[in-house]
Amino acid sequence: MSGLIKSSLARKFVMALSGLFLVFFLLQHFTINITSVVAPDTFNSWSHFMGYNPVVQYILQPVLIAGVIIHFIMGFILEIQNRNARGVSYVKYKGSANAPWVSRNMIYSGLVVLAFLGLHMYDFWVHEMSYKYVQGLAEDPTRYHEETVVKFEPFWRTVIYVVSFALLALHLWHGFASSFQSMGVNNKYTAAIKTFTKIFSVVIPIGFAIIAIYHHLNPITH
Ligand code: HEM
Repeated sequence: MSGLIKSSLARKFVMALSGLFLVFFLLQHFTINITSVVAPDTFNSWSHFMGYNPVVQYILQPVLIAGVIIHFIMGFILEIQNRNARGVSYVKYKGSANAPWVSRNMIYSGLVVLAFLGLHMYDFWVHEMSYKYVQGLAEDPTRYHEETVVKFEPFWRTVIYVVSFALLALHLWHGFASSFQSMGVNNKYTAAIKTFTKIFSVVIPIGFAIIAIYHHLNPITH
């Protein structure tokens, strides 16, 4: 039993650590993307840097992909473990009786975010790989803003993005706050950390939604 608990705690720790890493990614991703609304030239130069810097391309990007995969696989394992625990009397499942809806449905909000990532990678990353490695086109530091805005022309894609950001907010609402708990953080800053995570969970997805809606409403006309 102690083995089960230990490994369960270890899994939660890995889940929390990979989740925090992804939160950090979200913050940097948001910082770059918001410039597509307020400073298109900055967006172009930052995107160009991210697209061609070898450290970003060959170290940070693979680390990011590993982070997403670890978080996804651990999430599945924990979900299965929780489901099994519900049927086992000596492993106390604190679930449906008192846990809020969001925390019991992390797997579903997570799956929506994952499906969104599939579409998002198709929209941006596949295009980028094709530009650089399949078509072998020359570097063009001015192309990123227009390429991004054009993506939000279709109403359907903007709606899918905005709905996904709402689910991302729900996922973060529980996940970001509980990651500190899973890592055993419990000190005089705990309440402040919790407040910060809740604000972040709402503000960042709303910020992403504003970017998508802004570009949809302000298409590039030549
Ligand atoms: C309106 C909001 C968003 C915009 C405009 C946007 C835009 C972009 C762009 C331009 C890229 C660059 C692809 C490349 O050059 O390789 C990218 C990559 C990526 N985005 Fe987003 N993104 C948004 C929201 C999100 C959200 C909410 C997530 C996570 C839940 C996310 C996850 C990723 C990942 C994992 C990558 C691939 C990593 C990378 O190439 O840096 N994005 N996005």
